[in-house]
Amino acid sequence: MEQFPIFLTTTGGSLLIVGGGVNAARKARLLSKASARVDVVADAPVHPELQALADTGAVTVHARPFTDEDVDGRLLVIGAAEDDDALLSRVAAAARAARVPVNVVDRPDLSSFLMPAIVDRDPLVVAIGSGGSAPVLARSIRAKIEALLPARTGALARFADGFRSTVARALPADARRRFWEWVFDGPVSSAVLAGDEPRARSALIDRLNRNQAGETPGLVQLVGVGPGDPDLLTFKALRAMQTADVVLVDSLVSPEILECVRRDALRIDVGKRSGRHTMPQADIQALMVDHARAGKRVVRLKGGDPFLFGRGGEEREHLLAAGVPVEVVPGVSAAFGCAAATGIPLTHRDHAQGATFVTGHARDAEGAPDLDWEALSRPGHTVVVYMGVATAPAIARRLMAAGRNPATPCVVVENGTRPDQRTLPTTLGALADTVAAAGVSGPALLFIGEVCQAAVADVAVQAPPLAAGAV
Ligand SMILES: C[S@@+](CC[C@H](N)C(=O)[O-])C[C@H]1O[C@@H](n2cnc3c(N)ncnc32)[C@H](O)[C@@H]1O
Repeated sequence: MEQFPIFLTTTGGSLLIVGGGVNAARKARLLSKASARVDVVADAPVHPELQALADTGAVTVHARPFTDEDVDGRLLVIGAAEDDDALLSRVAAAARAARVPVNVVDRPDLSSFLMPAIVDRDPLVVAIGSGGSAPVLARSIRAKIEALLPARTGALARFADGFRSTVARALPADARRRFWEWVFDGPVSSAVLAGDEPRARSALIDRLNRNQAGETPGLVQLVGVGPGDPDLLTFKALRAMQTADVVLVDSLVSPEILECVRRDALRIDVGKRSGRHTMPQADIQALMVDHARAGKRVVRLKGGDPFLFGRGGEEREHLLAAGVPVEVVPGVSAAFGCAAATGIPLTHRDHAQGATFVTGHARDAEGAPDLDWEALSRPGHTVVVYMGVATAPAIARRLMAAGRNPATPCVVVENGTRPDQRTLPTTLGALADTVAAAGVSGPALLFIGEVCQAAVADVAVQAPPLAAGAV
């Protein structure tokens, strides 16, 4: 490491920028965030942004030529004059002679320190340096970290700081570390990041009291992981998966997503496929309670969104009744993922004024779901059927009997958003035959409604239909 990263205390110090152009303006914008006096020396009219900073009092502009004495007593000096190598060399030499750290823009050879790319979540700051060799790479990494750190991360750091001495008095060092890990990865952090500090405060105090009483309550997170494409995971889901002690996985979770789970977390397969329950729901719930009571962070991974045909509601009720803290992390439901992947707008000003999500699970004596067929058969309305492959013939029959036009466009999407996605365009009248002929065996959705016309047209343009309309 040729440069050693440090965070310099600037409070009460004074910083100097030499130059008045766009480079100086950029540096001034950055340095004005430090609590220090910022002087700018420039002998020509300054850039408008620099002038605007001067007008607010964030920097002071001295309209005169640079003298060597300008560097005296400074914490840092920045040489930012464009196209004036002689002046930049003078600034660098004067700063070195006065033993003041100096940075000259785009001239590592004249600099004694480099300015990092910064992600600012004050008081939390991330600085990224590449030793001057790849500033564009450093900026691209900064953009990724910007996206990873929620906007209120700084608020979280300030919130935690407010409790530091209380926690230090209440807990011994080892317990303290586990306590803070819990704060930053659990419901307290989620509440602060959501802007709800009162809720965060009471959760933190409750946990602190329990820790002092020797209890180590765990947490269950019901995490929606979307329909299969790992790029559809939320940052929150990823964080939960990477901090879990125990992970319960069901069969709709794709292998690519499982790759994102912390390696040394205990994995329990509680997979369910249509008609074959490998673990009864009551046992799954008991498992979650047992692990959480042992103080573990339990993550229950669920395909799509936990609260849409995912039994998330009943699991949450059960956990709360057992006194186990629970958090729900939403996911992209299959309807949204598949709609986006196939170009089906669920609503459209010209074609559908609403959309309804229904389960296709057979409920009545004739093997059809128990649904409000009159309401679902209205034109200008999209119906999305989950778990409807087996009952597709009954569903189509009921909708047509209630008045929906047999020519209504439909699309069956199997394994949506995954590499093996199949898109089967059809009509309501031909839905049953399409499903049977294609031998749909993976998770699939039935989209029914005029909005499917767009997807059908797209699919026809992209590639001619294969046998049975499979694409
Ligand atoms: C028990 S439900 C779970 C739904 C999930 N909670 C959600 O929000 O997507 C399972 C059904 O979701 C649908 N499904 C899940 N993943 C899918 C995918 N990748 N492509 C198509 N349908 C999917 C299928 O209808 C499947 O039978």
